[in-house]
Amino acid sequence: MSRPTAGRSSATRGYGATAAAVGAEQSARSTPGAVAVALRPAVRLTDLSVGFGATTVLQDVTVELPPNSVNALIGPTGCGKSTVLRTINRMNDQVRGYWRRGSVRVGDDDVEAAGVDPLALRRRVGMVFQRPNPFPMSIKDNVVAGVRAHRLAPRRDLAGIAEHHLRQVGLWSAVAGRLDDSPFRLSGGQQQLLCLARALAVGPEVLLLDEPTSSLDPISTEMVEDLLLQLSGDLTMVMVTHNLAQARRVSTTTTFFYNGRLVESGATAQVFDSPTEPETVSYVSGRIG
Ligand SMILES: Nc1ncnc2c1ncn2[C@@H]1O[C@H](COP(=O)(O)OP(=O)(O)OP(=O)(O)O)[C@@H](O)[C@H]1O
Ligand SMILES: [Mg+2]
Repeated sequence: MSRPTAGRSSATRGYGATAAAVGAEQSARSTPGAVAVALRPAVRLTDLSVGFGATTVLQDVTVELPPNSVNALIGPTGCGKSTVLRTINRMNDQVRGYWRRGSVRVGDDDVEAAGVDPLALRRRVGMVFQRPNPFPMSIKDNVVAGVRAHRLAPRRDLAGIAEHHLRQVGLWSAVAGRLDDSPFRLSGGQQQLLCLARALAVGPEVLLLDEPTSSLDPISTEMVEDLLLQLSGDLTMVMVTHNLAQARRVSTTTTFFYNGRLVESGATAQVFDSPTEPETVSYVSGRIG
């Protein structure tokens, strides 16, 4: 699935220099002495327009997001950020009046190609929401809910898988003694980490995060941010956030939307420190939003 693509000649918005940097670093890590090549993007939106009935919500969005990175989507409320996420994992399919033009690719695959099963797609492309949404089952069963549903492991392995992912998100010591308890007695931050453990347990290639810390206190927010940074070595994340300081802290690339259009996309430091578009300048400096 994730073979490097050599010889990319032109840079696309949001990818270009960032991808070259990420790709070079990964190539160097995986194959010592190898010539650095840019990896192919993990997520590609091409001329994507989306709407509901007569309303156009996203217009002609083209962007490539590099693999193994945190990609922040920022912009004022209603500009279409959540719609982008919901289009990537096809959560809009059942919404009345939904239409789409252009394409969305995860790796090499068009997510709406004939024969793509949305449930199988959502195993490759996980999602974490603004408010933690544990299932009404034990803590342990929450972690392995997707593993069970997709029959990814035999029953005897489930306890070990639950432990592994609870350790991965830093929750193990807090819950080891109460794995059979309800998740609803956990703190909000712990519930969100549990939802991350559940999303990670099915081995996604891409994780979509829609304002994952906006309902959390600062300590829990820091726990989640630390985890995202840790995961970015192996996983592509696309994270909507209204918290510009958070985008700066954790993201590799930042893409700014305004009124359903992609205004600017690139390496996070560039978008924040030397934006090229006047709307981006206003937004990152807090003059609009
Ligand atoms: N099912 C729908 N039918 C009609 N309009 C919709 C639908 N879903 C979203 N929209 C509209 O699409 C626009 C973009 O919504 P979206 O939720 O993507 O914005 P957002 O950038 O995530 O905003 P926020 O920051 O407030 O979460 C909004 O004007 C919203 O009202
Ligand atoms: Mg939203």
